[in-house]
Amino acid sequence: MVVPAAPLRGLLLLGSLLIGGGSTAMTFYDYYAPGGQVSTGLVGEGDTFKLNGKEILIVSGAAHYFRIHPDYWRDTLKKLRAAGLNAVETYVAWNLHEPRQGVFDYGQLDEDMSPFLDLVSYIRMAQEEDLFVILRPGPYICSEWDFGGLPSWLLRDPTMHVRTYYEGFRNAAAKFLNDLFPRVVDLQFTRGGPIIAVQIENEYGSFGYQDNPRDKMYLRFLEENFKANGMGESLFFTSDSTTIHQDLGATKGVLQMSNFKTDGDKELSLLKKIQPNRPLMVAEYWTGWFDHWLSGVHTGFPASKFEANLKQILSFNASVNMYMFIGGTNFGFMAGANTMDVFPHYAPDVSSYDYDAPLSEAGDYTEKYFLAKDTIASFNPLAGVVSNPEPPPQRTKKAYGQVNVTGVMDFESIIKAVGVSVLLTDGPVNMEALDINDNNGQSYGYIVYRTSVPLQSDSVLKIRGHVRDAAQVMVDGTMATKPLTNVLHVNNFGWWEGRDKELKLQGEGKVAELTIMVENLGRVNFGHPHKYVQKKGLWEGPVLIDGEEILEWRATPLEFKKKFINGLRDWKNFESPLPTPALYRAVLEIEGKPQDTFLDMRTWGKGVAFVNGFNLGRYWHKGPTKTLYLPAPLLKSGANDIIIFEQNAAVSEVVFSDVPILQ
Ligand SMILES: *[C@@H]1O[C@H](CO)[C@@H](O)[C@H](O)[C@H]1NC(C)=O
Ligand SMILES: *[C@@H]1O[C@H](CO)[C@@H](O)[C@H](O)[C@H]1NC(C)=O
Repeated sequence: MVVPAAPLRGLLLLGSLLIGGGSTAMTFYDYYAPGGQVSTGLVGEGDTFKLNGKEILIVSGAAHYFRIHPDYWRDTLKKLRAAGLNAVETYVAWNLHEPRQGVFDYGQLDEDMSPFLDLVSYIRMAQEEDLFVILRPGPYICSEWDFGGLPSWLLRDPTMHVRTYYEGFRNAAAKFLNDLFPRVVDLQFTRGGPIIAVQIENEYGSFGYQDNPRDKMYLRFLEENFKANGMGESLFFTSDSTTIHQDLGATKGVLQMSNFKTDGDKELSLLKKIQPNRPLMVAEYWTGWFDHWLSGVHTGFPASKFEANLKQILSFNASVNMYMFIGGTNFGFMAGANTMDVFPHYAPDVSSYDYDAPLSEAGDYTEKYFLAKDTIASFNPLAGVVSNPEPPPQRTKKAYGQVNVTGVMDFESIIKAVGVSVLLTDGPVNMEALDINDNNGQSYGYIVYRTSVPLQSDSVLKIRGHVRDAAQVMVDGTMATKPLTNVLHVNNFGWWEGRDKELKLQGEGKVAELTIMVENLGRVNFGHPHKYVQKKGLWEGPVLIDGEEILEWRATPLEFKKKFINGLRDWKNFESPLPTPALYRAVLEIEGKPQDTFLDMRTWGKGVAFVNGFNLGRYWHKGPTKTLYLPAPLLKSGANDIIIFEQNAAVSEVVFSDVPILQ
């Protein structure tokens, strides 16, 4: 079809003026949609992709809007474009966009992450910065993101089978997609927008065992839904590791792409064999990797190898999406987790998603950025036709020194401030099952279970099954568990690996108050989440004292949402750290315009940090990550509230750094 696309023409004119340091060089849109005239979208037939009838080598970078502060979206997109990229790829995070079933948030709600969720603005901004868009709406996205982007309220259905044709999942997914697509359908390239390609599901080949059949009815259902919503004007694709899963995650007629870090020659040769008459694309060329808590090492990928493998991909005439071009941050409780076949079986992800990518977590240029820029330039089929803008200046970082902790709130006051006490009469239940948040349950954070029970001097607490994922116990306000000192101890009482574990309690022969605080460390996002337990809290088996099951409990959710943190009033003057989990408060005074900084948490124990109410993420002195990235837009000139929920061992000051410590 031919679409005049009036708004696009205005943008193109603007683009022409900006590119090439003021000279009127051609933009990608000038080249592929001259005068805004578009007759065909992206086509993947033959040896090369064609966009509007012209050959295109897609050089894309992954940059997730939900991991980058919105004030930095444009700066980020400019950096991608200046490296010679012609596209940006993003997933869509269902769990952020539908926080409660049927309630959709694209930036208009007042949720903690709402400011990050204006997807339409992000897509339009990409076009303004002369980039095409590759959209990966899932509904499952993996991405080291809690539950692979699936909302936790799905788990309230006792027979839920995620990522299958199961009616309960299918209907929920359709509701999400039917709300999402009308927002972006007119942003397709064929209609004057930037979207050229859309992925169906994500690495579906990994969702199963060996070569048993995957649920192809589910993939077809998704394809039909995308089409019925008008998205068929973009190129559909699926992506998997070609050497491991071949075409197991594919659906008939839909273009397959490869995901890998190394051995591009093997991956791409096999993909060509499986799909001989179609162009090659790497949907995820892994520029680095991510980290797990307790792993002991920060995983990187050497810049020289990154460059060599990128060259190999481009010498195959393959298009590429660098995953990640900028990783950003798993703010709040949104980091996911992996399962492993070996001890410790469950591995939660850290809050930083730096990924050792060409742009750092904080958006800084790295060696890989300039290697990517030079490599792309040497393979650029449009050299001399479309030129690149200059990379924007580096954003400054500031070490704000250290500020003293001045306020403290003890555990009892926190429970009182939450003010929610759900009566459970048949033993503890998982957090998702609590009838809170308009019957959507608790998604993230900690859940506190309490009961009153007679305790002897040699009483034994036994939790049948596992705790999901970590438990701390208090008796009459005194700690009965100790912090983790060694990763091997995750097999002990209170940690996810331990099963049917016992803890000795020191009672005084009378009724005591028993408190079990259980932390959700992140839901598994990759592989076989249907096989792995995703419900969080205590629920696998009964909880017993001296062999007798305790049925009556009161549950309090510690969700630590922004409104709660900002509403805390009951602060006491800080004198010294408390022995039980507590909140600590410090004030950072800033003169003038705030700058990016990092919280250096090396001297603290384990917990979560909030700045002006915003949850920056988890810290844990066991690392490997020791800092929390604090983007300047979360700060303001004047007094800034720094609040820390410390579970073990607080200290008296908060330290700011101008560099990240990833190990
Ligand atoms: C890549 O494309 C060029 C130009 O069309 C061609 O000469 C070359 O053989 C191709 N390389 C591969 C590995 O297909
Ligand atoms: C912070 O605490 C230390 C130790 O108590 C004290 O010497 C220092 O004056 C305090 N700094 C401020 C700014 O209050």
